[in-house]
Amino acid sequence: MLQVNSLHSHYGLSHVLQGIDFSLEAGEVFGVFGRNGVGKTTLLKNIAGWVKPTSGSIIAAGTDITGKEPDAVNRAGIALVPEDRRIFPGLSVRENMELGLLGRRHDGGQAALDAVFDRFPRLKEREKQAGTTLSGGEQQMLAIARIMVAEPQIVLVDEPSEGLAPMIVAEVFAAIRQMRDEGKSVVLVEQNIHEALSVCDRFIVIERGQVVMTGHAENGTDQAKLLEIVSV
Ligand SMILES: Nc1ncnc2c1ncn2[C@@H]1O[C@H](COP(=O)(O)OP(=O)(O)OP(=O)(O)O)[C@@H](O)[C@H]1O
Ligand SMILES: [Mg+2]
Repeated sequence: MLQVNSLHSHYGLSHVLQGIDFSLEAGEVFGVFGRNGVGKTTLLKNIAGWVKPTSGSIIAAGTDITGKEPDAVNRAGIALVPEDRRIFPGLSVRENMELGLLGRRHDGGQAALDAVFDRFPRLKEREKQAGTTLSGGEQQMLAIARIMVAEPQIVLVDEPSEGLAPMIVAEVFAAIRQMRDEGKSVVLVEQNIHEALSVCDRFIVIERGQVVMTGHAENGTDQAKLLEIVSV
C-alpha cells in the first residue's frame, strides 16, 4: 500500500532522515515511534509532500509520489492530519468539514459527510459554531473527521493525543480503529506509546535518522525493546 525506500531528508545542512525504509499493508495501523526531534514529523511531511526528500522513493499503491506536491499526493489517496490541526479560522464546524469534500476522489460526498457527522455527534451538535472556538479535543476530532470525509486510502496522523484528556483520547483512537476497519491504512506518530500500542498492528522506531527496529504491537518482547529505546 505504501513503500518508503532509503528516504533521506535535510533541512539545510541538518541531515534528519538518513535512509528510512518501511512498507505498510492495506488495513494496517502502523506506529512510528522515537524520541523528540528524531524526525517523525519530518517523515510524515515527506510522505505528504510538505517537505521534499533529498533522495529515496515513496510509492503509494504502485504510484511514485516522491517529491510530488501536496495536491498530487492527496489525489493519490494520502492525507495528513498535522500536529497543529489546522482548523480554518472564520469557518464553522460544518464548513471545515465541507473542505474535506474537496479532497475526495469519488462521488457520494454528501453521504460521506452525513456519515461522519453521525460518527461524531459532538461535532454535529456544534456544526454552526466557529471551528476555532471548539475545545482542543473537539478540534482534534474535527481535524480527523474532515479527513474521514475525503475517504483517503492512507491517513497520516501526527500526535493526535497531544494535550487531550483520556476520554477524548479514547474517542480519537476509536476513530483511528474505525478507519482501519474500513480498510484504510493509518500511519500513527504518537508519544503516548501505551495508547498507541493498543491500536497499532506493527511499528517502527527511529533513531539517528534510521529505523532501528520493526515490531509487532502485540508482541511482548517487541514492546519491551521499544520502551527501552524510547525511554533511554
Ligand atoms: N523547518 C525546519 N527547519 C529546520 N529544522 C527543522 C525544521 N523542522 C524540523 N527541524 C528539525 O529537524 C529535526 C526533526 O524534527 P521533527 O519535527 O521531524 O521531529 P519529531 O520526531 O517529530 O519530534 P517531536 O517528537 O518533538 O515531535 C529536529 O531537530 C528539528 O529541530
Ligand atoms: Mg513531531
